[in-house]
Amino acid sequence: MIVDRVDQRSVRSALELATRAPSIHNSQPWRWLLGLRSIHLFADLRRWLPVTDADGRDLAVSCGAALHHLTVALAATGLRCTVRRLPNPAVGDHFAAVELHPGVGAEADPGVAGAIVHRRTDRRRYLDWEVPTAFVAELIDRAAEYGAVLRPITGAAARAQTVAAIQAAAREQESRTGYHTETALWSGGRTGDDGVPAANLLVDPSSGDSIARRFSEGLVTQPAEGTDGALGTASDDTVSQLRAGEALSAVLLHATQLGLASCPLSQPFEVASTRATLREEVLGGTLSPQLVLRVGWAPAGPPLPPTPRRALDDSIERMPR
Ligand SMILES: Cc1cc2nc3c(=O)[nH]c(=O)nc-3n(C[C@H](O)[C@H](O)[C@H](O)COP(=O)(O)O)c2cc1C
Repeated sequence: MIVDRVDQRSVRSALELATRAPSIHNSQPWRWLLGLRSIHLFADLRRWLPVTDADGRDLAVSCGAALHHLTVALAATGLRCTVRRLPNPAVGDHFAAVELHPGVGAEADPGVAGAIVHRRTDRRRYLDWEVPTAFVAELIDRAAEYGAVLRPITGAAARAQTVAAIQAAAREQESRTGYHTETALWSGGRTGDDGVPAANLLVDPSSGDSIARRFSEGLVTQPAEGTDGALGTASDDTVSQLRAGEALSAVLLHATQLGLASCPLSQPFEVASTRATLREEVLGGTLSPQLVLRVGWAPAGPPLPPTPRRALDDSIERMPR
């Protein structure tokens, strides 16, 4: 029997999982337009953070992560798809067209989709145990599959430069008009379905080595520590940023499968001067840096609560038939 219809319940389940993707300040800056055999990903510019993310890099990276989560989730439901990035250059916020191919089962590793519901951004200090080099190599491979480079930040000098860049970026941003208001709007809440809730934030991010972003006040008591890798791409256009987000998602889900905790850090790339410093001093001037990624072993204790997400219907629209 040839099946030529796409099961819309599978599409909906896949979209539910896609929206578990990480996003800058949990802004969830995406919209989905659904056709009978296609899903279109648009940036939701009403959810852009113009002071923190003046270039829109974090927004595009977040949408890339959602795109990768979607393809993983579609594969887990047995749906094969093809992705076209920026399918309509005249419409800059149309980030991707995902064509669904009914009747053709996708080969999927169910463990990757399973990792979606277990992954958290973990801002706590990780244990001192080393991450095995074989694991690091696997994470580097996952990034490479999406055309990105994950370069471990090793050595005291590179690490010190990264920490200094993060701190300099924080000082620069905190002097910007509107930064504190934007941060307060998107973090520290106790209720609501977007933003970073207090339950997932450190009480005192300035303790430890001060690389954690100063959000609104949080409830988690351990300081952050450790910087592990820089994620970079060959170019810095929107497609590269989307691909960086896809690579980020692939790396984070694989890290989760390996039992590792993780945290993306974007602050030094939101400020032109610190971004240039990291590009030259830490990445040898050869890559366009997109994110720093901390990876390590989580401390013992209860798992972190998931951050909330908007109701799916808030972000989907159907194409008129
Ligand atoms: C592009 C991007 C940039 C981010 N930057 C930071 C950051 O600088 N500091 C931080 O603690 N978390 C950062 N995050 C993590 C988000 O805050 C997190 O994904 C969001 O709150 C949802 O939580 P979850 O990842 O636990 O689902 C970033 C995530 C993305 C996708």
